Formats: sequence, C-alpha cells, structure tokens
Amino acid sequence: MAPVTVRVPAKVNLQLSVGPERPDGYHELVTVFHAVSLFDEVTAAPSDELRITVEGEGAAEVPLDDGNLAMRAARLLAAEVGIDPRAHLHIRKGIPVAGGMAGGSADAAAALVACDELWHAGLPVERLHLLAAELGSDVPFALIGGTAIGTGRGERLTPALARGRYHWVFALADKGLSTPAVYRECDRLRAGQASPPVVSEALMTALRSGDPSALGRALCNDLQPAALSLRPHLRLVLEAGEEAGALGGIVSGSGPTCAFLARDEAHALDIAVALSSSGVCRTVRCAHGPVPGARMVRR
Ligand code: C5P
Repeated sequence: MAPVTVRVPAKVNLQLSVGPERPDGYHELVTVFHAVSLFDEVTAAPSDELRITVEGEGAAEVPLDDGNLAMRAARLLAAEVGIDPRAHLHIRKGIPVAGGMAGGSADAAAALVACDELWHAGLPVERLHLLAAELGSDVPFALIGGTAIGTGRGERLTPALARGRYHWVFALADKGLSTPAVYRECDRLRAGQASPPVVSEALMTALRSGDPSALGRALCNDLQPAALSLRPHLRLVLEAGEEAGALGGIVSGSGPTCAFLARDEAHALDIAVALSSSGVCRTVRCAHGPVPGARMVRR
C-alpha cells in the first residue's frame, strides 16, 4: 500500500447569516462558502495503528488525539467499512489553525478521501458526504470546494452560479477564537432576536456577474459583531484593510482571520503590503478563489 496525499482548501464565508438556535444546539444557517487557495495536505500511509503527526505553522496547537477531526474521520470511515483504522496521518498545515477558515474540517475531509483510497474502501461520493456531515458542519463543503450555498447547519450544499476568479488577502491573528464561544456571544448580543436567514440576492447577482466591486459590497457575516466583541482589536484590522483600498472586508467565519477582497492580483499584493506594514496582524496571506475541494495529489 503506497501512501496517499490529498490537498484540501480553506474556506471563507461570503455570506454567513445565522438564524435562531435549534433544539440540537446548532444554529440554522444560510451561508455562501467559497474555497480559497490556502491548502493543507493530508498524507495517509500504512501503519499498525492510527496515529497522527502535524507540521507547519501553528502545528503545536493541533491536537494529536480524538480532538483532531482527521483522526475522527479515519475512525468513522473504518467503522463504516468494517475494518480497523490502521494509518499514519501526516498533516501539513497551510490553513491558519483556529482561524475561522475551517482548517480542522478541511483535514477531516482530506482524511476521508485519503483513507478511502489507502484502504481501497471505494465508498461512493454520497456516502463520503454523509460521513463528512456527521463529522462537522463545514466538512462536506471541504469535499466539494468551489462556491456553494450551505443551509441547515451548513452541511446541506447547493453549488452557486459564480463567474470569475477573486483575489483575497487574509490577515492572520496571533491567537485563535473558539467557534462555540463566538456563536454563544452572537446569541448573547442578539438576546434571542434572530430571524430566519435568507440568501442575499445582492451577493448572488454579484457572483453571477463576476463583479468583484459588487461582491465586496455584498460580503456579510452575522458572526462578525460577536467576533469583534470578543476580540475588539479586529476592528483595527478591518479599518486597516479598508484604508488599504480593499473592495470589502469581513471577519472570516467565526474569526479571528479577516478577509479582504481585491480587484486583481496586483491590488491584492498592494493590500497585503499595506496590512503588513500597519502592524495590526501577525502575518498576511494572498489567495484566490474559487478552487476545487479535497483532491488526491500523490499516490
Ligand atoms: O459542526 P461543527 O462541530 O464544526 O461546529 C462547531 C460548533 O460551532 C458547534 O459545536 C456549535 O457551537 C457551533 N455551530 C452552531 N451552528 C452551526 C454550526 C456550528 O452553533 N450551524
């Protein structure tokens, strides 16, 4: 059995509309996921037991036990096909850890694809998607990538009609934010006043026309006030991106990464330089989207 390597992208939510809390503790969402070219790589190699190693930026903060979603993904797949989960998973991090860009979910999606291949399980795509949804709300999107509307808790996906390629700058923070804590803060700030979420027509029109300026104006994230409340410093990051001339700026998912949209690649580079020299964030990354979801790159 030769090792299998799968590359998987980060996501940014172009829209994240959060409805009321459901009886199961999740929130009803309407979101527009967009996969961008910051990647993790997960390699599954033969091993006597299931173990995990991690390299790259923030690797020290990634759990090496069942707190790691990739580990849970391998166990779930093995149970589904009725075998022992024997694999060494090695993760190369390129997606910010606890950054609101679904890095852990991406690793779970990549682990599903890599182990399916390593163990010759040959699960149909639909079953992989069911396992992905069981693992986490953002995992199914990491399998498909592109630009897609997510409903339910985010796991029910419909591809969005989107034209063009968009250029982004991401401002990375020193310390992560906990997703459940940001949702709790969102509930606290809204004091139960959440209306059922709907897809933004302005956003859909911008995506169909491939117009980055219109897309920049249409970006929206209901979790942003909560992320700003828990991390007031992010306001300075958003202001710096605006001053640098971004077409739009938002907190990515539950944060603390901030995403800025540029006109083109050169503009993205200008914004990145301005953000870097402003000193408001730990580091910056340029990326483009949409890109495909988890794909095998080496066997
Ligand atoms: O689905 P996942 O395990 O990635 O979600 C992490 C946490 O984010 C949940 O435990 C919940 O607190 C919050 N969440 C939510 N509503 C959603 C998605 C996530 O409240 N639709």
